[in-house]
Amino acid sequence: MRYLSPALNVMAAAARKAGRGLIRDFGELENLQVSLKGPADFVSTADKRTENQLVEELQRVRPGYTFLVEEAGIVEGPDKSHRFIIDPIDGTTNFLHGIPHFAISIALERDGALVSAVIFNPVTDEMYIAEKGQGAYLNDKRLRVAARKKLSESLLATGIPFLGHGDHDGFSAELAAAMSVTSGVRRFGAASLDLAYVAAGRFDGYWERNLSAWDVAAGILMVREAGGVITDLDGGADVLSGRILASNEHLHPQILKLLKDAVRAAKG
Ligand code: 2AM
Ligand code: CA
Repeated sequence: MRYLSPALNVMAAAARKAGRGLIRDFGELENLQVSLKGPADFVSTADKRTENQLVEELQRVRPGYTFLVEEAGIVEGPDKSHRFIIDPIDGTTNFLHGIPHFAISIALERDGALVSAVIFNPVTDEMYIAEKGQGAYLNDKRLRVAARKKLSESLLATGIPFLGHGDHDGFSAELAAAMSVTSGVRRFGAASLDLAYVAAGRFDGYWERNLSAWDVAAGILMVREAGGVITDLDGGADVLSGRILASNEHLHPQILKLLKDAVRAAKG
């Protein structure tokens, strides 16, 4: 990468450090899988500890910044123009089940605009970084969204509603529409990595509902800086709303229409 801002350096270092702890916890989990309650408690402790570690680390080098984090919510700092948005373990369900697909996600906003982003999968040692106007990178390799133009050749990712949350009928209609015209749909369970994979051109598109700002903030900048298009599911700019569609410029309008038509038809 030609230019790595001091803030991005600090964010990547914090993610790497916290990632080492998560790897230890992930190994430890194997011993806990036998008891049902054990791993869930253990993971929630690991989640909180990782979050505290990240906040403390970033507060030390960027005192005064505001934080929006998964467990603690908003941590106000005197500097209102800078805000870190952090997910200590994105893909918690995978983590809990011993599936090595989860990430630490850190975004930095300046005056309401996303300016720096880090998504780190400690198991695969994949470090995704992006800086506004400077591009997106995976371990020093420049990222570019896929160039595919046809839905029939594209691989999409999504998130399936769980535990009764969300609109099951609407989602089922979307999935039925997507699976009839694309070359496949994946559900990997970590929104930040789904977005990073779109940025890397692995997935051609990704949509999901009911997400939180910390699930998607870093991934939004990653996709934009890889030349992708990212909107809410109405095609609007409210991307932190948690209803998101990311793709390339050719497929984005096609997927948006496909999903909208499917939901409209399902609702009659
Ligand atoms: P999490 O692992 O940090 O909770 C999976 O569909 C995606 O949805 C993940 O990125 C997951 O983030 C996010 N998500 C948001 N709220 C969730 C919840 N209550 N349970 C499981 N996943 C959730
Ligand atoms: Ca998350």
